[in-house]
Amino acid sequence: MRNILGIDFGTTNSLIGYLDKDTPKLIPNSRDSLLTPSVVGMSETGDLLVGEAAKNQSIAFPDRTVASIKRMLGEDKTITLGKEQFTPQEIAGAIIKRLKLDAEEHLGEIVEEAVITVPAYFSDAQRQAVKDAGEIAGFVVERILNEPTAAALAYGINSESKDTIMVYDFGGGTFDVSIIRAREGAFRVLATNGDVKLGGDDMDWAIAEWLKKNFKKSEKVDLEGKEIDEIQRRVIQQRLKDAAETAKKDLTEHLETTINLPFIYTESEEPKHLKATLSRTQLEEIIEPFIEKTKSPLEKSMKDAKLKYEDLDSILLVGGTTRIPKVKQFVEDLVGKTLEHKVDPEQSVALGAAIQAGVKRGKLQEMVIVDVAPHSLGIEVKDGKFSVIIPRNTAIPCSKKKPYVTTQDMQTEAQITVYQGEKEVASANPKLGDFVFSGIDSQEAGKALVDVLFDYDINGIVKVTAKDRATKKVKSVSFKTSQKRLTAEEVREAQLEIGVRTSQKENEIGETSEANALIYEAEAFIRDRKKFIEKPTKDSLRTAIANLQRAIDHDEDKVKSEIEHLQIILSDAEITVMSAEDEQKNEEKEQKDE
Ligand SMILES: Nc1ncnc2c1ncn2[C@@H]1O[C@H](COP(=O)(O)OP(=O)(O)OP(=O)(O)O)[C@@H](O)[C@H]1O
Ligand SMILES: [Mg+2]
Repeated sequence: MRNILGIDFGTTNSLIGYLDKDTPKLIPNSRDSLLTPSVVGMSETGDLLVGEAAKNQSIAFPDRTVASIKRMLGEDKTITLGKEQFTPQEIAGAIIKRLKLDAEEHLGEIVEEAVITVPAYFSDAQRQAVKDAGEIAGFVVERILNEPTAAALAYGINSESKDTIMVYDFGGGTFDVSIIRAREGAFRVLATNGDVKLGGDDMDWAIAEWLKKNFKKSEKVDLEGKEIDEIQRRVIQQRLKDAAETAKKDLTEHLETTINLPFIYTESEEPKHLKATLSRTQLEEIIEPFIEKTKSPLEKSMKDAKLKYEDLDSILLVGGTTRIPKVKQFVEDLVGKTLEHKVDPEQSVALGAAIQAGVKRGKLQEMVIVDVAPHSLGIEVKDGKFSVIIPRNTAIPCSKKKPYVTTQDMQTEAQITVYQGEKEVASANPKLGDFVFSGIDSQEAGKALVDVLFDYDINGIVKVTAKDRATKKVKSVSFKTSQKRLTAEEVREAQLEIGVRTSQKENEIGETSEANALIYEAEAFIRDRKKFIEKPTKDSLRTAIANLQRAIDHDEDKVKSEIEHLQIILSDAEITVMSAEDEQKNEEKEQKDE
């Protein structure tokens, strides 16, 4: 039987899995990791790099690398990598394609179908964009599944209990909370809420800000000052962000950590190093506002589900950010229970997607999953009011109809404008699209009757139909979502483009590109630090660079080990030079003092 894959397409990391008999399994990528960074880059030779290879070049070539694309899905944005431009769906498509290739390699077969997860709070346009991305990657997207539902599947697969579950999913880019009821293998989402622009990424940037402020205080250098050019600024930002994330993760285990960024900036030939110590308490102060921001969506979801905290049987902590002790404690204090991660918080969504994919294949007894519409849907009526046709948290799929009357005499046409949101004034909500319905029975105002029907499908995508009761005329429109939906032709074109460029041999290309980035970095180091590097260090650096270059040109198998070798030599050299400079500074200071 052919497999269907389950995909967790995350802001920071993406995972892919399948159901092996009755057990969900995650598939390691070609670097033997279950997590593939959701980063895409363009190599010097114009190949698309995905994952670790792209992440590794992001410091040297930030203008050719893009991360956190999930946040841009559903928006009309253009991503420039080097000289080329891409849509967010194409970038996401390249990531999914990479996962597909790795899975096919692992399973030894071509897999054409997939279940892909999205935050429950994603809008229609965002869901559509994910579906487009899956198709660009060459999949038939069997289903778009809500991430919390997937997590509940991963936790609940063996449970026969009757459970009311809260899923608190705090990831890299999004926060989601959902209340789910599980009964004998049937899952029903009672309510969902969240913030699509809140995650561990924001914490990293806040820590980076803190580092910059600290640096400005101690070194009197503004890392955002005008004298720093755009490319340099992006390199600095990226280094700060990476260091911030490492420090944050470190503080999950330890009470204090040190941050070292040698040569963060050179001011009139004088290099500056960033050194800082961050304690867990300081970190908690910095990230407190982001943790607090999860409270209101959480309370709203409980209110919508008409539940109190004591009604909850289980609380699932999902997403890497819930590893932070303060985050865990925050939820524990709210619900008044001690909590633990029963399934790895970064893997549960993908495991659930794999289970759902297996259900599609009929491997497991069908589990009924009932999702809900995350936002109300309706149309604009008289005086700009919003008339809701499908209320928020209605179980989907669903079809709902409402009759409307004309507002003018002899009116034969009506503009139908569709919005999604909770505000009473229609235009205050995000607009999904509009169309003109002609062929209304010509009558006095208030006499002609038009039914407007909304079909909300299992993937959260809406079709709107208007029908005049007298003339029986019908117009059914797949109206434009807030972002241009791709045509079949456009998907096919992007498929070809992304398919060819995200090639099976990308690993080698990835390695070469990483090697080139490293050579670039090492040469820049020798050039900028001329005065401070001693001859033996310079020589060993030059030799390591030459060896790596030789491996790139003539001996592919050695590229990896030569990269590692040059990395060691380079970081040793950085430390030596840094101490030499510090020493010199101290001497100068002493001389001055004398
Ligand atoms: N040990 C840790 N301590 C603190 N934070 C961590 C730890 N491990 C991972 N994280 C953070 O978790 C986040 C990634 O979590 P996860 O992989 O669940 O996100 P995602 O699925 O990519 O994003 P999203 O679900 O928002 O789309 C990152 O911000 C990362 O820094
Ligand atoms: Mg996630």
